[in-house]
Amino acid sequence: AQAALALREERKKPLYQDEEYADVDWDNLGFGLTPADYMYVMKCSKDGKFSEGELSRFGNIQLSPSAGAIYEGTKAYRKENGKLLLFRPDHNAVRMQLGAERMLMPSPSVDQFVDAVKHTAFANKRWVPPSGKGSLYIRPLLMGSGPILGLGPAPEYTFIVYASPVGNYFKEGIAALNLYVEEEYVRAAPGGAGGVKSITNYAPVLKALSRAKSRGFSDVLYLDSVKKKYLEEASSCNVFVVKGRTISTPATNGTILEGITRKSVMEIASDQGYEVVEKAVHVDEVMDADEVFCTGTAVGVAPVGTITYQDKRVEYETGDESVCQKLRSVLVGIQTGSIEDTKGWVTCI
Ligand code: COI
Repeated sequence: AQAALALREERKKPLYQDEEYADVDWDNLGFGLTPADYMYVMKCSKDGKFSEGELSRFGNIQLSPSAGAIYEGTKAYRKENGKLLLFRPDHNAVRMQLGAERMLMPSPSVDQFVDAVKHTAFANKRWVPPSGKGSLYIRPLLMGSGPILGLGPAPEYTFIVYASPVGNYFKEGIAALNLYVEEEYVRAAPGGAGGVKSITNYAPVLKALSRAKSRGFSDVLYLDSVKKKYLEEASSCNVFVVKGRTISTPATNGTILEGITRKSVMEIASDQGYEVVEKAVHVDEVMDADEVFCTGTAVGVAPVGTITYQDKRVEYETGDESVCQKLRSVLVGIQTGSIEDTKGWVTCI
């Protein structure tokens, strides 16, 4: 009641104050936040047009949890018997901690993180698709939520977990992807924060991605920022190259996201007798490969049908007998409980 009263009093104040000066110690101004009375807010919808803006009193704004910061992605699957399975959420917790450390943010403990994911999945269990129809994508995120004007750690952080049922990431469904090797824009530079799952690594790829999509490609492959010759990753996922029984993937050196699907697929592939190599993968090697495939939580394990680099377009093997398909079926089997989990990767909730 007191808060409501205060709000009513606040609203009674005139829009503009007519005192010549606000009540500020003008001789001792630093760069701390002293919010002035008003802020101007104008919103833009999908059509790219800003609506008429308006002044309102400075105050907190409402923000959708789905507006990103540092974020994670993990999935809950429904087993044939209806039980729910989570896939390696403790690895997402550790990755968030490493990312937060790079960005000088505090992060939840592994137990707090996993507990939050379990609670969110269980509370939303009616949104987990039937077995074989998709999964519940769970997005834990961490953002600076306290006020700050200068450059420095935020005075308050918020950790949120929300969920959404999802099917295939690409509009191609499970059909092979057509990728474009980007030469103008780079994704991340050595010493930067390319290995952090932060929105700062996703917003900068949108320009190259939308240009490639308008030309009919599914996604963009980025090259290293120094020599522009070595493969990094795609906008939304990691990438693997297959030649004979050898499977290579770009080594993580701080510019590449350390995917949990990437790590799991590497382990499955070596279990199956493939030689798995993490190294600098030259673009010429990609163009000469038998197969290329992508991995990610959102993407899963996705076959690549073609890659276009400069004026050359190469086609790759895909289909039921492909390495990609074999690895994918083991991974999906473990995630959905149709293959026994001997590795301790899935948690039943
Ligand atoms: C994921 O794979 O979980 C991601 O966050 C990728 C993103 C492009 C949706």
